[in-house]
Amino acid sequence: MIKSKEWDWERGIEEKWWSEPSEDVYYYLHRWKDQGFKRFLDLGCGLGRHAILFAHNGFEVEAMDLAEKGLEVLRQNSKTLHLNIGISLGDMNHLPYTAGTFDCLLAYHVISHTDSSGIKNIIGEINRVLVHGGEFFITLCSKESPSYKSGKHPIIDENTILKTEGPEIEVPHFYCDLDTVKEIISEFETLHLRHIQDIYENTYSWHYFVHGKKKDL
Ligand SMILES: C[S@@+](CC[C@H](N)C(=O)[O-])C[C@H]1O[C@@H](n2cnc3c(N)ncnc32)[C@H](O)[C@@H]1O
Repeated sequence: MIKSKEWDWERGIEEKWWSEPSEDVYYYLHRWKDQGFKRFLDLGCGLGRHAILFAHNGFEVEAMDLAEKGLEVLRQNSKTLHLNIGISLGDMNHLPYTAGTFDCLLAYHVISHTDSSGIKNIIGEINRVLVHGGEFFITLCSKESPSYKSGKHPIIDENTILKTEGPEIEVPHFYCDLDTVKEIISEFETLHLRHIQDIYENTYSWHYFVHGKKKDL
């Protein structure tokens, strides 16, 4: 398995995109609140935009990431906002939580930061830390993205490249097609699977958005 590499937030901290919650996440906030879920993990929290949203809304929040710089920003913001968030430096390959700790889990643009062998391990970790009946929302990079198709980046394995610029410098990116996504999440109940295109000024990207559930006992 390839060695993990955190984001270099010094290069991306100014990007407004990473400071405001993603619109998709509001749906999960309301759904999980209505379901009475309490214990929430923001896996690969970055600057903590979603950890703050969930903490504001009464969830017991744990946030973890491999990038100390992002966690520093979250620590400061949670202090200013008087929010009680558990903040941990860690690697998603070995989540620092005991089995069945969380009712719900978010990993927004995170778990693709690995290679073909790492992804299975990370999915296993997500399965381990969720309670039976617990839900997750995760995103995965799609092979339809120009960053995969262009062939411009160093290749790690048939599904994985290394990014060479910006905050993602030297961070691995694992890309899926639909069959691979289905295989990766096969141990869960799939509640909603989407293929989403984000369009920017000069380019675009595709991701699979997966809403799933750990099967009941
Ligand atoms: C695209 S950012 C997304 C941040 C956050 N989820 C959000 O939506 O704002 C990806 C994050 O994943 C983190 N990351 C990369 N590899 C990781 C690993 N092995 N374990 C934990 N976090 C990791 C990076 O450091 C970075 O903060």
